[in-house]
Amino acid sequence: MTASPTQRKVRKAVIPAAGLGTRFLPATKAIPKEMLPIVDIPTIQLVIDEAVRAGVTDVVVINGRNKHAIEDHFDHAWELERTLRDRGKVEEADAVTAVSTMVRLISVRQKQPLGLGHAVLCAREAIGEESFAVLLGDDLIDNDADPGIGQLIRVHEQTGAGAVAIVEVPPGKEHMYGIVAGERDATGHLRITDMIEKPKAGTAPSRWAIVGRYVLPPAIWNHLATTKPGAGGEIQLTDALHKLIGSKEGLYGVEVAGTRHDAGDKLGYLRANLSYALKRPELRDAVRALCRELAE
Ligand code: UTP
Repeated sequence: MTASPTQRKVRKAVIPAAGLGTRFLPATKAIPKEMLPIVDIPTIQLVIDEAVRAGVTDVVVINGRNKHAIEDHFDHAWELERTLRDRGKVEEADAVTAVSTMVRLISVRQKQPLGLGHAVLCAREAIGEESFAVLLGDDLIDNDADPGIGQLIRVHEQTGAGAVAIVEVPPGKEHMYGIVAGERDATGHLRITDMIEKPKAGTAPSRWAIVGRYVLPPAIWNHLATTKPGAGGEIQLTDALHKLIGSKEGLYGVEVAGTRHDAGDKLGYLRANLSYALKRPELRDAVRALCRELAE
């Protein structure tokens, strides 16, 4: 059954954070990689801020073995808040309090890292029969005026179709991404007809790569539940998205406006840190000087 206009309203988001984070070991031995900071804000806080600015009120975080770090970060820290206020550190105390009130957070445990598709399926009960957003902490989309996930939500609410964020990657880099093929229709967006995970050199049908933002209709639950383990023995979200392409809902690729950072990769993570630091008036000049000094 196609989602009704009420079911299409996106109020809930899933943030899978139960991966092993192998590319950032040993930093991710005791904390999830989503807690690694961009300047002084954990990646997951930036991602939740994007969702909240797009109208999301409830966030389901899929946690793995280090679940307490994320739960604690979005909870009150009464002792810390009181100590900071006693010491006159009002700004810092306000920042700590603000994090604990920014969103309603539901924590769900993924007992084993069986793949991104499995992680999303773990949120089924918490989300229910309504459309929802999925945001990966690996990808940051910096857009203060129009949050990346909000751009996808608009397309979903208009069409009822699933929506994935896409960016055009440089020629020769297609093999590093999930690549989509399709045609632009009257909406101006790409109606996806095919999806290929990490195509071999020279075989990619386009340079449109999927990045970590999705808005999915409730029909995705059955597609996920019937998806068998694929590459690496994991239940892949891409396999369930394939089923959506062939269904009446369909799937759109939305070229998101904003600066995208691949924070799941070491160089991308460093770039994100520099880019966000350069946006901060109190840091901008010093960071510029530092870059010049280090480049000499
Ligand atoms: P990645 O494969 O990029 O994350 O999954 P990873 O496994 O943690 O990182 P590396 O490659 O080993 O460094 C994409 C997203 O899906 C989540 C991850 O937390 C990440 O946000 N994920 C992945 C889960 O929640 N559960 C899984 O079983 C797999």
